Amino acid sequence: MLEINDLWVDVNGKEVLKGVNLTIPSGETHILFGKNGSGKSSLLMTIMGFRRYRVRQGRISFKGVDITKLPIHERAKMGIGLAFQRPPSIRGVKTRDVFNVCNINSVSCDELADKFNFSGLLERELNVGFSGGEMKKSELLQLLLQDPELVMLDEPESGVDLENLQILGKAINKLLEKYLWRKRAKSGLVISHLGFILNYIEADSGYVLLDGRIHCHGNPRELFKGIQRHGYRECIECQR
Ligand SMILES: Nc1ncnc2c1ncn2[C@@H]1O[C@H](COP(=O)(O)OP(=O)(O)OP(=O)(O)O)[C@@H](O)[C@H]1O
Ligand SMILES: [Mg+2]
Repeated sequence: MLEINDLWVDVNGKEVLKGVNLTIPSGETHILFGKNGSGKSSLLMTIMGFRRYRVRQGRISFKGVDITKLPIHERAKMGIGLAFQRPPSIRGVKTRDVFNVCNINSVSCDELADKFNFSGLLERELNVGFSGGEMKKSELLQLLLQDPELVMLDEPESGVDLENLQILGKAINKLLEKYLWRKRAKSGLVISHLGFILNYIEADSGYVLLDGRIHCHGNPRELFKGIQRHGYRECIECQR
C-alpha cells in the first residue's frame, strides 16, 4: 500500500527526516512512537503532500504509483487521508460544508453527528472555538466520511476524555476495518504517545522515530511497554 524509500525532508531549512524507510502492506496498521520534535508529524505531512515539507531525496509510492511530486488533492483522491495533530480553524467555513465535501459514500452527516454526540457543532465554523477533544472528533468524523484506504492519524487520543476515548476508539477501529462500506483493505499509520489506541486497533507493527530516523521496530505493545519502562534511551541503542 505505502512504500517509503530513503526519505530526506527539510522544513523551513531544518532537516526533519533523515533517510526514513517504511513499508505498510495492505490491511496493516503501524504505530509510530517518538519524542516531541522527532519528526513524526513531519512524516505524515510529507506523505500527505504539504509543500512546506520539501523532499530533498527519496521516494514515496502508494499502490505502486510514485506520488512524491503529486499535489495534496491528487493524493487524497487516490485514497490517502490524514487527521491532523492540530487542525486549522477556518473562519467563514461551516463544519457541515466540510463534512459534505468529504462525504464520498453519501452517508447521512446528521445521523453520523448524532451517533458521535457532535450535532451541535455541524453549524459552527470549522474548529473555531472547538475544544481540543471536539477538534479530534471533527477530524475523525471527516476521515470516516472520506473513507480513505490509507488512514493517517496524528495523536488521535491526545486531549480526549475517557468517555469520548471509547467512542473515538470504536470509530478508529471502524475506520481501519479491513472491509468497510466497500470491499477493500485498509492500512493505517498512527502516531501515539499514550498508547490507548492499542486497546482499540489491531496494530501489526510499531516504530520509534528519533531525530528524523527510525531507530527500532517491532511488536507495538512490547515497544510501548519498553518506552514506558525505560523512556527512549534504549531505543537509541536498539538495533532491531
Ligand atoms: N514550519 C516549520 N518551521 C520550522 N521548524 C519546523 C516546522 N515544522 C516543524 N519544524 C520542526 O521540525 C521538528 C519536527 O517537528 P514535528 O512536528 O514533525 O515533531 P513531532 O515528532 O510530531 O513532535 P510532537 O510529538 O511534539 O508532535 C521540530 O523540531 C519542529 O520544531
Ligand atoms: Mg507531532
